[in-house]
Amino acid sequence: MTRVAVVGYGYWGAKHVRVLSSIPGTEVTVVDLNRARRVAAQAEFPACRVTESLDDALGEVDAVVVATPVRMHGPIGLRALHAGAHVLVEKPLAASSDEAEALIATARKRGLVLMAGHTFEYHAAIWRMRELIESGGLGDIYYIDSARLNLGLYQADVNVVWDLAPHDISIANYLLRSTPREVTAWGRAHAGRGIDVAYLQLQYRDPDVSAYVHVSWLDPSKVRRATVAGSLKMATFDDLAVEERVRIHDKGVGVRGDGDESGFPLIYRHGDTLAPHVPFDEPLAVEDRHFLDCVRGIAECATPGESGLAVVRVLEAADRSIREGRTALLDVPATVAEQVARV
Ligand SMILES: NC(=O)c1ccc[n+]([C@@H]2O[C@H](COP(=O)([O-])OP(=O)(O)OC[C@H]3O[C@@H](n4cnc5c(N)ncnc54)[C@H](O)[C@@H]3O)[C@@H](O)[C@H]2O)c1
Repeated sequence: MTRVAVVGYGYWGAKHVRVLSSIPGTEVTVVDLNRARRVAAQAEFPACRVTESLDDALGEVDAVVVATPVRMHGPIGLRALHAGAHVLVEKPLAASSDEAEALIATARKRGLVLMAGHTFEYHAAIWRMRELIESGGLGDIYYIDSARLNLGLYQADVNVVWDLAPHDISIANYLLRSTPREVTAWGRAHAGRGIDVAYLQLQYRDPDVSAYVHVSWLDPSKVRRATVAGSLKMATFDDLAVEERVRIHDKGVGVRGDGDESGFPLIYRHGDTLAPHVPFDEPLAVEDRHFLDCVRGIAECATPGESGLAVVRVLEAADRSIREGRTALLDVPATVAEQVARV
């Protein structure tokens, strides 16, 4: 039996509880400060133990999933590691890079698993996008563009960048096996509850590619889309599509080599669109099963603390860039860059 506590039974923690409860050989404890959430957990999952006290749970579990608001990720993750539990922390890994580094150092010192909940790195469609890039099928990569828009849900403790962009940053880092060196961001608070619309440009050096990220809590349409534009083809990932989440478009722009006299040396290519079959397995289930395999010592973590730290550093740089109105440079420790390149 692997005993796991899920701390925070809100929108996302409830999904972890559903997934973990369905995995054989797993015993789940729910920890939430809010009585109504505990009552809901007990009603929905009568087989789970439910408690208000993290300390009570910590003495009796092997692993902890932290699914609380972001400000509590670092403190709760650290408490769990100090109690000897393996830890999966929801994205973003922590509210600052100092906290993220403390989590990494503690996990390393105690020989425990520290995993960042970068759900899209467990998404078969994103794996397929990376295969397309690395097979050379798209040609040279021009840019990545991603949009994560909706109306709400406004969060009390973080702005829209910290809430939504961790997904897009982790996707871009994963696709490029790299971390950006520069972040230029623009963000604005429209509805009086912190920055609710933001645009980020992440500049990678190796490879020399830009990723453009648009995140919004203030948009009438729900959009979850990423595009990788290459010199040969373009690929799109639409997470809202029920089928054909990945599409490969034989579309692009080339430069005429025949000295065209019109003075406009571009040619447009409008070819076929192909939707490869990508078998769907719920990414959160893939992630949680992988976490348990890491806890049981039969897998090496694909999104360790270092990949969480890499994302947190970009979020901090984005905040800096928005505040100062200029590009923020990022100094990524070699160990972090190596880790992101490896997985
Ligand atoms: N990976 C993903 O795709 C994904 C999606 C959504 C949210 N998330 C992440 O999940 C986390 C939770 O988000 P949410 O939308 O479920 O939030 P939520 O507000 O719905 O739920 C948070 C829960 O944590 C509880 N809580 C707060 N402080 C606590 C503490 N100290 N101890 C125990 N319980 C505490 C609250 O009572 C609440 O029930 C966030 O970090 C968010 O970024 C990840």
